[in-house]
Amino acid sequence: MEKKKLYIKTWGCQMNVYDSQKMADVLFPLGYAPVDAPDDADLMILNTCHIREKATEKVFSDLGRLRDIKDARTEEGKKPLIAVAGCVAQAEGDVIMKRAKFVDMVFGPQTYHLLPEMVLQANGGERVINTDFPVESKFDHLPEAAVGSPSAFLSVQEGCDKFCTFCVVPYTRGSEFSRPPEQVIEEAKRLAGQGAKEITLLGQNVNAYHGGDYDLADLIAAVAEIGGIERIRYMTSHPRDMNDRLIGVHRDIPQLMPFLHLPVQSGSDRILERMNRKHTAAEYLDIISKIRKARADIALSSDFIVGFPGETDADHQATMELARQVGYASCYSFKYSPRPGTPGAVMDGMVPDAVKDGRLQELQALLFAQQTRFNENTAGKTMPVLFDRKGQKPGQLLGKTPYMQSVYVDASERLFGEIVDVEIVRAFQNGLSGEIVTTEAALSQKSA
Ligand code: SAH
Ligand code: SF4
Ligand code: F3S
Repeated sequence: MEKKKLYIKTWGCQMNVYDSQKMADVLFPLGYAPVDAPDDADLMILNTCHIREKATEKVFSDLGRLRDIKDARTEEGKKPLIAVAGCVAQAEGDVIMKRAKFVDMVFGPQTYHLLPEMVLQANGGERVINTDFPVESKFDHLPEAAVGSPSAFLSVQEGCDKFCTFCVVPYTRGSEFSRPPEQVIEEAKRLAGQGAKEITLLGQNVNAYHGGDYDLADLIAAVAEIGGIERIRYMTSHPRDMNDRLIGVHRDIPQLMPFLHLPVQSGSDRILERMNRKHTAAEYLDIISKIRKARADIALSSDFIVGFPGETDADHQATMELARQVGYASCYSFKYSPRPGTPGAVMDGMVPDAVKDGRLQELQALLFAQQTRFNENTAGKTMPVLFDRKGQKPGQLLGKTPYMQSVYVDASERLFGEIVDVEIVRAFQNGLSGEIVTTEAALSQKSA
């Protein structure tokens, strides 16, 4: 078979990272092998995100570069294809087709299992657009992963019916859908067989998972039974679906890692209501205290939005207060960005950008200080670290602690994919560095 090169650039959430991997898997049997740069690729895919402003502009500016590459290669007699995938494709597919005539394919997040046919059509000179939400799930048509990873993502749930008033996801990903548990467990077993020690169960609303009789707690318990899976995580969760059973598995299942990303967005009840989050700050804090009762050492993280329409200084201070009360290990925080087609975009009380800037700075100063403190508290401790990435320098590996901290360690490459005890030597805002404490004897046993 003719060898071809595939370039994929990925923006956005873990779900998009998972999708990009699956696109590569779907295209592998057609002879496409992944490359890191677009320059001599035969197929270039931009897997896009629409969550905040300038998303579309960024795509068009990248497309400009890809067009130059395509033109140059066309002169050499090659016929490279350009595709736009993901949430911008879903939301703005028609605009992209109209404005960028050199784009060969536009397809949404629910259709990439049809890539072989779309590529065939595009190679035949057709321009292809597919932004359907097909009745048949793409998950029924995905091939096995071409390469394994020690830390693997597994998408179990997609879409969202919650319609927070700031968010495009219900429009770009469609309504909530859970994969059947048997299918998820089978994929988890395959990943374990390919060397995965850690599995992150993914979903836009992962804790709303309900496949057959299984909820997320059942699914975690089932994945924990699979030999070789030593670590389980899940994301992203909504506070409303954080029920007692799920909180209970944090106590009962040792493989479930002590880290939870539970976005709150705001600490003000008034703003939470305008955001349609359907819970109060007190209810969120109550969930946090239950989780801490179940698993005392749990590390918490959240997403915050500052400057949602109608947010006053008092509302913002309520957010600051909530963050102080929880004490997070790491967080993402954003300025509110009005998204076309969402209710928030037409609400009264738009907050001026300068005010948003000030609030974001104040919040981030607090969150960064909390993160630094959390990391510093782990200095001097010994923790099991899963080496799942190569470091920038040779002889260096990057790994993850149970609490999701990144750790740089000087370590031999044969430890890649292993869980090894590491003493944390230094702490930074964004991560840690450490030294291996496991003895050579224990290590050779491990790799034997
Ligand atoms: N499903 C997840 C989050 C999905 S989007 C949840 O329910 O929490 C990831 C994050 O992007 C959100 O948590 C939110 O903080 C941020 N975000 C979403 N829409 C946004 C907007 N219009 N402006 C700014 N931030 C936004
Ligand atoms: Fe967006 Fe809200 Fe759904 Fe999360 S729960 S994906 S923020 S609409
Ligand atoms: Fe972005 Fe779509 Fe994920 S909008 S955050 S890529 S679901």
